[in-house]
Amino acid sequence: MEPSRLALARVPTPFEPLDRLSRALGGPRIWVKRDDLTDCAISGNKIRKLEYTLAQALEEGSDALLTCGGLQSNHCRATALLGARLGLHVQLVLRGQPEGEPQGNLLLDHLCGAAVATYPVRDYQARLPELLELHRRRLEAEGRRPFVIPTGASDEIGVWGYVRASAELAEDFARVGIRPRRVVVATGSGGTQAGLTVGLHIQGLDAETWGIAVCDDAAWFERKVRADLHAWRQRYRTAIDIDSLRVRVLDAYIGPGYAKAGPEVHATIRRAACEEGLVLDPVYTGKAFHGMLEEIRSGRFGNDDDIVFVHTGGIFGLMAQWREVAAAKGPCASQA
Ligand SMILES: Cc1ncc(COP(=O)(O)O)c(C=O)c1O
Repeated sequence: MEPSRLALARVPTPFEPLDRLSRALGGPRIWVKRDDLTDCAISGNKIRKLEYTLAQALEEGSDALLTCGGLQSNHCRATALLGARLGLHVQLVLRGQPEGEPQGNLLLDHLCGAAVATYPVRDYQARLPELLELHRRRLEAEGRRPFVIPTGASDEIGVWGYVRASAELAEDFARVGIRPRRVVVATGSGGTQAGLTVGLHIQGLDAETWGIAVCDDAAWFERKVRADLHAWRQRYRTAIDIDSLRVRVLDAYIGPGYAKAGPEVHATIRRAACEEGLVLDPVYTGKAFHGMLEEIRSGRFGNDDDIVFVHTGGIFGLMAQWREVAAAKGPCASQA
């Protein structure tokens, strides 16, 4: 049933409580699954999905990877670095155009030799399938065999990454003796949430996955997560009743838009760093962590004994937006 996998990530990742922050909030004990530590430069959630995606690419005899995302896409950076590690040519199709020197993820894309094509946002949004097709055909004309990876590697293959991570979480919960009711994660293209939703169910855990949307609304993500799960069920012929699974998405924390965070998120990023030494980013984990703290404060998550946050990485996105975060008035801003 489970497809082939390349063992690329440094797992199991640590599972740790944030006791200072939990005490200060007076709510549940907050635990963090440190998937920001799945590697150094290839850190984050994407490597878990790409273990399966790239195994599929190699099985199909591909020698090039073609994928897409934002200018500061963590997924594209992880694909670029893993492609280099596996000796595959990588072509990235990126949304937006860089100003000045490349920074953060884009700098790493260039560093490891990925071919980078950037497009104005409107053009990218209107023409993405066509752009991917153009690049695919060009790569083929050059004699390569490209494997196309969708945004965020969020498809039925990528789902496996967090199905497998859920088994790790089940071991973490048993080891520390907790039975959390909620696992919170940033949702950007839905694949991580899809994998956790079905994975925790497979492990027989009562925990529900709560995705904090960082771009599109809850209805869009509920549809996307279910679509990925149905495609997964069909392709791998599992007997799981996808319609019986609850897909929980909160879309109140998107703020000004994708990759744009408000001052409250910047303040939370500072707080997590100052009080726990935990580094979050303004695009994904900062928004999701902020959303979780707000839900604890408002009482929706407040009565739980334990709550789990899956830290999905993204540190290079912070590097690209340092000026905004540094300007935030946070609990320890005076130490700056
Ligand atoms: C750091 C980080 N966290 C969370 C996510 C969201 O994961 P997914 O795309 O599977 O929803 C992404 C990518 O989109 C990411 O780069």
